[in-house]
Amino acid sequence: MPCGDLALTNSVVLITGGGSGINFAFSKLVFEAGAKILIADLTLTEDARKFVASVPSEKVTFVKCDVTRRADLENLIKASRDTFGTVPDVYVAGAGVFEPDWSTWWDDTEDDGYKQLDINATHPMKLTRIATKALLSEQKKGVILILASLAGFLGTFSAPLYCASKHAVIGFVRSMADLDCYANIRVHAIAPGMVQTPLWLNNPEKMSRFGYDPKTAVTAETVAKAMIDTVINGKYQGGESVEITVSGTRVLGTWNLDPPSSSGTSVPQEVIDKNHAPLMAILDKERGPLKR
Ligand SMILES: NC(=O)c1ccc[n+]([C@@H]2O[C@H](COP(=O)([O-])OP(=O)(O)OC[C@H]3O[C@@H](n4cnc5c(N)ncnc54)[C@H](O)[C@@H]3O)[C@@H](O)[C@H]2O)c1
Repeated sequence: MPCGDLALTNSVVLITGGGSGINFAFSKLVFEAGAKILIADLTLTEDARKFVASVPSEKVTFVKCDVTRRADLENLIKASRDTFGTVPDVYVAGAGVFEPDWSTWWDDTEDDGYKQLDINATHPMKLTRIATKALLSEQKKGVILILASLAGFLGTFSAPLYCASKHAVIGFVRSMADLDCYANIRVHAIAPGMVQTPLWLNNPEKMSRFGYDPKTAVTAETVAKAMIDTVINGKYQGGESVEITVSGTRVLGTWNLDPPSSSGTSVPQEVIDKNHAPLMAILDKERGPLKR
């Protein structure tokens, strides 16, 4: 039987990346809805630190966690059992990074793998595996949300690892559709366009390079509300992705998708040209002499 509706009151919600941005906004909303919360992150923003300090510790707990470490992810289940006496009902794989200097395809500084893929793609897949075992162990139904992006449906020459990581989780979520019937666990991707969060606001250089425009970026609260609706509402089928842009929210199927209609989903050509210039310079530097 599919998972169906899920009430947030008294449920336990685990949120990676809950110390900032979209997932912090979601943490506050699920707390207001009566859930208990486990915020897992490397660190908390000042607002998140104040929030955690202001609410009862038996309702909200912060666990330091590096999502690239399996032991840290496993520890979240233990922390939930120790604090709340049960495994979480809802799991949000929200931690993510956007083209950090230390993990880009263009700069190519990593010898083994790409840390950006470990954070954005491998962690949601591992967390889903860990969550499935935890839910089955207590015969609970549950919902898993994975933070994807519109970048999971389009390519960007200057952000190929980010786009690849978000495409990966869209494919993974689609592959998890049957978990709804077989294990009463709904797995969904959340796919926002640009969102007003520290991912952009703390990086003015990236804002201009990638054409961030506050007029076409939704707020973190808008995304958080759509996430709440996806969790509680059994009308969503396991494996579906939910797109959120300034034009609104819609469910994405698998085939023949219409492009999003809002202006916030495309970047002006002059911004693209400026963005590509340093990449052309990299290619020029790497190009050897013509062999005749
Ligand atoms: N902001 C946007 O425009 C936008 C658009 C689409 C999708 N998203 C996705 O939404 C998610 C949240 O993004 P945000 O905009 O709120 O960003 P944010 O930078 O405000 O928050 C990201 C959080 O992830 C945490 N994190 C990073 N690496 C981690 C690690 N190794 N272990 C544990 N935590 C780690 C950070 O500490 C931070 O608290 C990301 O997956 C992002 O890709 C963001």
